Amino acid sequence: MNHIQGSLIYEGKAKRIFECENPDRVLIEFKNDATAFNAKKRSEFKGKGRLNCKISAALFKLLELNGIPTHFLELHSETFIIADKINVIPLEVVIRNIATGSLCRETPIKQGKLLSPPLLDLYYKDDELGDPILTERRLKLLDIITPFQMEEVEKITISVNKILKEYFDSLDLLLVDFKLEFGLNSVGKLVVADEISPDNCRFWDKKNSDPKERILDKDRFRQDLGGVINAYEEILKRIENDSSSAH
Ligand code: TMP
Repeated sequence: MNHIQGSLIYEGKAKRIFECENPDRVLIEFKNDATAFNAKKRSEFKGKGRLNCKISAALFKLLELNGIPTHFLELHSETFIIADKINVIPLEVVIRNIATGSLCRETPIKQGKLLSPPLLDLYYKDDELGDPILTERRLKLLDIITPFQMEEVEKITISVNKILKEYFDSLDLLLVDFKLEFGLNSVGKLVVADEISPDNCRFWDKKNSDPKERILDKDRFRQDLGGVINAYEEILKRIENDSSSAH
C-alpha cells in the first residue's frame, strides 16, 4: 500500500513521527542527527538515518519471526518505516550482557565483566530530568505501568536479549547491551517500540580485540573515536550478508 506522509506528530532527537492515512499507524523517519549525554553533545552523520532504518527494520522482522510483539509493520522507504501508533510508556529498559558505560562509571564494577544473568536497569524516560535510574519502589510510586505490564516488559526484554545475542553472535558480534522502549498500540497490546540500531545497542566486533577498534556503535561518537558511519555500515553489511546467505 502507498502510505501518504501526513502532518508531523512529534520530533525527537533521532526520529520524526508523521501521521499516515490509517489513524492507527504512523510513519517514522530516521534522522541523521546524533546526540549523546542527554543531548549535551550533538552532531550529524550523513547516511545514519538510512542505516538505522534498515538495521531496525531487519531486527524488528527477526523479533516478529520469533514471536516478539513489536510496533514494526513494514519498511516504507530508505529512511521511513510504517509502525503501529502507540502510547509510549516513559521507561527506558536497558539490558546488559557485559559491563561498560554508565554501569562502570557509576559503580566499581570492572569494564568487560560478563554479567550472567544479564543485568536489567530501568530508567525514567524524561530528557529534562536526564533519564534518571529507577528503583522498584520509585517505579511503583510513578504509576506509569501496571505490575502485570512490568512483568511482561521484563519477560519480553529477556527474550529479545536471547534472540539478538544469539543472532549477533552468529555474525561475529558481541551484543554488549541495549535499550528498549515499549508502548501500547490502538488495541492496548504491549509492543516493543522505538528502534533497534547501533544508536541504542552496543556491539563489539569479535574479530578484533582492540578495545577501541572493536566498537561498532554510537560509542564511537560518544567517545570521539571517529568512523561512526563505517561502523554502522559494517553492522548492516553483516546483517545483509547473513540474510542473503540464508536464501
Ligand atoms: P549506558 O551504559 O549509557 O547506561 O547505556 C546502556 C545502553 O543503552 C547502551 O546500549 C546505549 C543505550 N542508551 C540509549 O539508547 N539511550 C540513552 O539515552 C542511554 C543513556 C543509553
